[in-house]
Amino acid sequence: MDNIREIISERRINKRIKEIGAQISEEYAGKELHMISVLKGGAFFTCELAKRISIPVTLDFMSVSSYGDEKSSSGVVKIVKDLDESIEGRHVMVIEDIVDSGRTLSYLMKMLRERKPESLALCTLLDKPSRRTHEVHVDYTGFEVPDVFIVGYGLDYAQKYRNLPFIGEIVEE
Ligand code: IMP
Ligand code: MG
Repeated sequence: MDNIREIISERRINKRIKEIGAQISEEYAGKELHMISVLKGGAFFTCELAKRISIPVTLDFMSVSSYGDEKSSSGVVKIVKDLDESIEGRHVMVIEDIVDSGRTLSYLMKMLRERKPESLALCTLLDKPSRRTHEVHVDYTGFEVPDVFIVGYGLDYAQKYRNLPFIGEIVEE
């Protein structure tokens, strides 16, 4: 059993998701929003956020994994599961659990832009800006976090702890 210290409570997360949902609803008023959830981590945040958005929402899911060695600067990611639907001409928002180095998202956003959406935005629950090596424009952020290993609310350590209702840090014993 790992030692996990809570850093953001369930209550604070719920409050922040409500705020972001209201902001998105206002900024996209009169439009339809197509949310793309990045599996697996983004799924928890996507569902909670979707419930707090009052404009019409559609959903799709995508799964990506890093290609080759972590340190390569190519930033190439492999699509493990592609979208079910076309995004051409739609207002698209990618929903992620965390932007860390930015490697995954910089590649993904570039690839999605080539599919000609009407607009393309990025919403992440967590941002670790101190770790950025690849530039990514983030439109909506839940919380900025320090350079620690985070678990919970979709984020895993060896596939565990995604189901924690709070955001925690793994602390060395
Ligand atoms: P990137 O470095 O921005 O490309 O992030 C790649 C992926 O690494 C994220 O989508 C997360 O799945 C994972 N990741 C980054 N930081 C953490 C963390 O602190 N805990 C758990 N997963 C993380
Ligand atoms: Mg992820």
